[in-house]
Amino acid sequence: MERIFGRPIVTQEQMRTRIKDLGRQIASDYANKDLILVGILKGAFAFYADLARAIRIPLRVDFLVVSSYGSRAKTSGKVKMVTDLTENIAGRDVLLVEDIVDSGLTAQHLTKTLSKRKPKSIKVCALLNKPDRRQVTVHVDYVGFEIPDKYVIGYGLDYQQKYRNLPYLAVLDQVDEEGEAT
Ligand code: IMP
Ligand code: MG
Repeated sequence: MERIFGRPIVTQEQMRTRIKDLGRQIASDYANKDLILVGILKGAFAFYADLARAIRIPLRVDFLVVSSYGSRAKTSGKVKMVTDLTENIAGRDVLLVEDIVDSGLTAQHLTKTLSKRKPKSIKVCALLNKPDRRQVTVHVDYVGFEIPDKYVIGYGLDYQQKYRNLPYLAVLDQVDEEGEAT
């Protein structure tokens, strides 16, 4: 499996340890707040499930399905909300949970769109951060791991919609840069 799926960059053990720490930090920051954890699908599903269970305070769960158009190399900047939230976020403390902040366009777009619904606060938590590829300035409040500019798969992240089920994070050695979709 390792040979086919690329070089491991973050192991399952490292993932577990880091997510526990993030969960503790978020639980303490949101102790007396009305937290709604918004998972950005599909990419965030694995991280989300682990993170939600590491945050030991009462919270609400909800999800958004988005897709972004264009190749990874040439992001069109268009982020489409395929499925909206089911909960009302007005007056609540929203924490967006993303797989990765790359160009930053998805995080920027969703923060702007959801802010119009008057949440009390809105912050971003990403398993991975690739600061080298940023096209817009976005503040990522909680980051699992900063990674270099390499295409990664596993733990929710795909290459052409596959490999999301890989239980660790791996670097894909060759990508054709096409067909990217969130
Ligand atoms: P953005 O460029 O910050 O808007 O990120 C858009 C989406 O691109 C992310 O949510 C991921 O689904 C995807 N993406 C960015 N970098 C990678 C990668 O290295 N592997 C897999 N998906 C990625
Ligand atoms: Mg994707």
